[in-house]
Formats: sequence, C-alpha cells, structure tokens
Amino acid sequence: MGNGKGLEGVVAAETAISDIDGQQGRLWYVGYDIADLAEAATFEEIVYLLHQLELPNRSQLDEIRNQLAAEREPEPFVLSLLPTLANDAVPMSMLRTAVSASSPHDPDSNDQSEEAIYRKAIRLTARFPTLVAYYDRHRNDRELIPPDPSLSQAANFLWMLNGEKADEDSARIFDVCLTLHADHTMNASTFAARVCAATLSDIHSAMTAAIAALKGPLHGGANEAVFRMIEEIGEKSKARDYITKRLGSKEKVMGFGHRVYKTEDPRATVLRKMAKELADKTGEPRNYEISEEIEKTVMDVKGIYPNVDFYAASVYNYLGIPTDLFTPVFACSRVAGWTAHVREQYADNRLIRPDHAYVGPEPRAWVPLSERN
Ligand SMILES: CC(C)(COP(=O)(O)OP(=O)(O)OC[C@H]1O[C@@H](n2cnc3c(N)ncnc32)[C@H](O)[C@@H]1OP(=O)(O)O)[C@@H](O)C(=O)NCCC(=O)NCCS
Repeated sequence: MGNGKGLEGVVAAETAISDIDGQQGRLWYVGYDIADLAEAATFEEIVYLLHQLELPNRSQLDEIRNQLAAEREPEPFVLSLLPTLANDAVPMSMLRTAVSASSPHDPDSNDQSEEAIYRKAIRLTARFPTLVAYYDRHRNDRELIPPDPSLSQAANFLWMLNGEKADEDSARIFDVCLTLHADHTMNASTFAARVCAATLSDIHSAMTAAIAALKGPLHGGANEAVFRMIEEIGEKSKARDYITKRLGSKEKVMGFGHRVYKTEDPRATVLRKMAKELADKTGEPRNYEISEEIEKTVMDVKGIYPNVDFYAASVYNYLGIPTDLFTPVFACSRVAGWTAHVREQYADNRLIRPDHAYVGPEPRAWVPLSERN
C-alpha cells in the first residue's frame, strides 16, 4: 500500500524492546528468540526483561516475583465497581473502565517520576488478572478467590478464576501463553499507548487507550472470534466447506493474516503444539482437528498463515477459560509490553503527530445558511 493507509511500512518509533522479521517469521524480545523464551522463560522473567532490557539474575527475579505477588489486589474503589461492571459490561469494557477508574486511587497516582511510573507499571501488570478473575466470579455469583502470593502470575490467575489449583502442565502452558503475548513491536494497542504517553498523559490513560485498541476484532478481539467460528463449524467434516464459502464471499477468517508476517507467525507454531498436547491430554481432539482443517483450507484457498490468535483460542478453551475472556487474558500479558513501551516513550519523548494527505475540496467561500440548498 503506497498511500500510507494503515501506516504500513512507516517507522513510528525506535524501540529496544522487541523486533520482528516478517519474512522469516522471527520474533525477539530484547534480542532473545521467542522460541527460546517460550521453551524456558517464565512470565515474571519476561516482565523484567521487557522493562530492564536484561534477563534477571536469581535475586532480581525473586524481587520482581515478590513485587508482582504483593500488588495483585485492586484498590477498594475498583473492587466496589466490579459487581456493577460484571452485570452491565462486556469483559474488555470492564477492564478499560476498571483501569481508568483505578488511576486516582493508585498510591502513586499523580507522581510522574520515573520510579513512580515503574511502580505503577508493575502494579497494573499485577492487577489485570485479578480484575478479570473477579469479574468472572461476580457474574457467576461465585465467591471471590483472593490472589495467592505463593503462586506465579499464570498459576494464580487460573486459581482465582477456577477456584482450583491448576496442575503443573496447565500452569506451565498458560505461563507460555503469557510469554508469547507479552510484546509485539508497534502493534495497534502498543502504538495507541505510545501515542497517548507521548502527550505526557499518565500511564493509566495510556493503558486505557491500549485496552480500547486491543478490544477490536482486527486486533486482540480476533481470538474470541476464532473460537466462536470453531464452535459454529462444530465438526471437522464441515470446516472446509464453511471456510471456502466464507473466503468466496470475501469475508475474512479470524486468526489468519498479519501486517508484518508473510510466513508463519512464530507464536502460532508454539501455540499449535500446545493445542495438540492439550487435545491429546484431555482426549478431546475436536477443536484441534477443526482448527487443523481450517488452517489447511485457508492455506489452500488464500495462501495465508495463522497468527497468534488462531491456536491461542483452542489453548485457552482447553484451559477452561471462558471464550469472552480470551481478549482480556491477552491484555493480562500484553500489559507487560505496553507499560515497557510507555516507559521507553517517556524516556525519549516527542509528541507523536503524523502528517496527512488531504483529499477534500479546494478552499472555497463560506455559504450563509439562507443561501444553502
Ligand atoms: C491482521 C490483519 C488486520 C492485517 O491486515 P492488513 O495488513 O491491513 O491486510 P489486509 O486486510 O489489507 O489484507 C491483505 C490481503 O490479504 C487478505 N487477508 C488478510 N487477512 C485475511 C484473513 N484473515 N482472511 C482472509 N483474507 C485475509 C485480504 O483480504 C487482502 O486480500 P486481497 O489483497 O485479495 O484483497 C488482517 O490480516 C486481518 O483482518 N486478519 C483477521 C483478524 C485477525 O486475526 N487479527 C489478529 C491479528 S494478530
């Protein structure tokens, strides 16, 4: 697209946080390959890496784990809003509203020092999963499960959501999901966060903007749409026909295509493997088999690869996460990247204000109301 539509190919910021090679299907966080991180890192290490641009040593890791574990309980004012939001708002609207509402109640609310902004970043990262889990418990009239500081971010979320300690494999798989979603260069929500921060607005405002952008089906909302499609298809034998018809009528298939990757998204490779593992382990291969068939058909008809959202949908479902929480769960991970990008933006700030190509009428004379047709 040579006309700059969608800012394709435009370098909007310098960043040391992550990088993508769209031709080769590679993604790095601060120079570390996502495949290696998915294999070995924990989400807590990723949070440290994205913010400090180095992997933590043992004591640094203990420190960030403790900081995150200590900051999980939302402010009383936000807690008081949750029952109403659980009744009235869809999950991403709840998250957007709760994060915005927490701003004046944050202990560092108006402090724009570097140290305070970092504390707010950690606090926000710690609190997102609690908001999502409490919301779900409220709407199902179930007792709230307070955060367990002895558990990792991943295991604690599954605990607060389900009221049961996740087995080691499920906790590890969810931890990998958090790692895979934590950052992705200048995606729409990260860019929205940076645009907001570049006006020197506060980090809560930037997170609110980011959540708002992630909500859309062309971005984070795609994972939910993927699962609804899998459910609608219902069985493997119907997948090819369904997808062929959809593509024939020029509709997009959610969970496919990417602005930057022209080959397989490296996160999809890991997620496909985990979806298969879970399908085998649970003895419920249906969703995985439908997904495989969708993938083959989209490749045959359009030559397009799956992105991060495609197999994430099945993985989240196998982990017992309700479908409409898939996008908020994405946010529980991406908040690490968003907050790191906001700090990077503040550190070397210039207002983000792109140019435009005007396509309206030439300058013309004002017409008084009485003379208009
Ligand atoms: C991610 C996305 C928004 C990128 O958009 P983009 O870079 O603006 O690409 P375009 O929408 O211009 O697509 C380019 C071409 O690929 C096709 N295409 C892209 N994604 C497609 C999809 N998911 N299904 C079918 N066709 C798709 C477009 O129809 C277009 O084809 P054409 O040139 O024949 O008209 C787009 O691929 C999409 O809408 N995917 C589905 C939503 C999704 O999964 N989002 C999560 C992203 S991680």
